[in-house]
Amino acid sequence: MESSMDLWKPVGTVKIRVYKYNPKKDFAPGWKEYEIEVSRGTTILDALLRIKEEIDPSLAFRYSCGQALCGSCAMMVNGRQMLICRTRVLEVVKDGKVELRPLDNFPIIRDLACDFKSFFDKHRAVKPWIIRRDVEELENPTGDYKQTIEEYARYYQFTDCLKCGACYSACPTVATDHEYLGPQALAQAYRYIVDTRDEGLEERIAVVDSDHGCWRCHFATSCSDVCPKYVDPAQGIQLLKKLIMRSKLGFKPHKPAEVLPSKIGEVKKR
Ligand code: SF4
Ligand code: SF4
Ligand code: FES
Repeated sequence: MESSMDLWKPVGTVKIRVYKYNPKKDFAPGWKEYEIEVSRGTTILDALLRIKEEIDPSLAFRYSCGQALCGSCAMMVNGRQMLICRTRVLEVVKDGKVELRPLDNFPIIRDLACDFKSFFDKHRAVKPWIIRRDVEELENPTGDYKQTIEEYARYYQFTDCLKCGACYSACPTVATDHEYLGPQALAQAYRYIVDTRDEGLEERIAVVDSDHGCWRCHFATSCSDVCPKYVDPAQGIQLLKKLIMRSKLGFKPHKPAEVLPSKIGEVKKR
């Protein structure tokens, strides 16, 4: 029987082919190949960290948590968007090689590191927070907003979004219209609009029902195919379109959640 230590026994060498480009210095992008020893447990992130430490300190890439939680390490692995901290080299190696390049549809800062400014600006544009009209209740809470399990289930999957950019990178509409809000932001607009605690329908519709908003989505679903958290932004966008049409006909997605009064003193104790 194999022990967990077997995961870390070297099993051979692999060539890691990496896109190298510094837009501030280089005339054109190029490729560099590094050969490293791997074990069954070596992730692509482990491999890049080893290359940076032992072979090429100039190599640039993004990462933070190392546990598929922060979303900062997404890149193209053999042409597909993946989180490199949870992808093992041996899962993806082909003919002894793994090819890495920065995410499509993002400007490059250096090598494998992309600029997420526009992506995050679009995320912020849909107001990804709960909007309420009862300011007095927000400032001096008397209880919790009531929400049933069924109401929670309407938006639950979208709360798993890591903002890794994989869906945005895979979207053919983003590739041709750089102002398109993209699958991540549009799915988040849907997530907040259908949350019964939220009252920001009009503000968000003004953003997403626009020239570069949800109507540009062709429902190709490549965004959902690559999501490492199994979120389905393509579905969220289609539901968002339906919700906008219903809202034009005068239907609201829900009544604002009521406050469930807490027992006296309970709120203040938190
Ligand atoms: S929806 Fe999925 S692929 Fe898109 S940013 Fe969120 S976690 Fe990443
Ligand atoms: S379903 Fe829409 S958002 Fe997703 S990849 Fe296709 S066009 Fe882009
Ligand atoms: S390093 Fe955080 S998700 Fe990969």
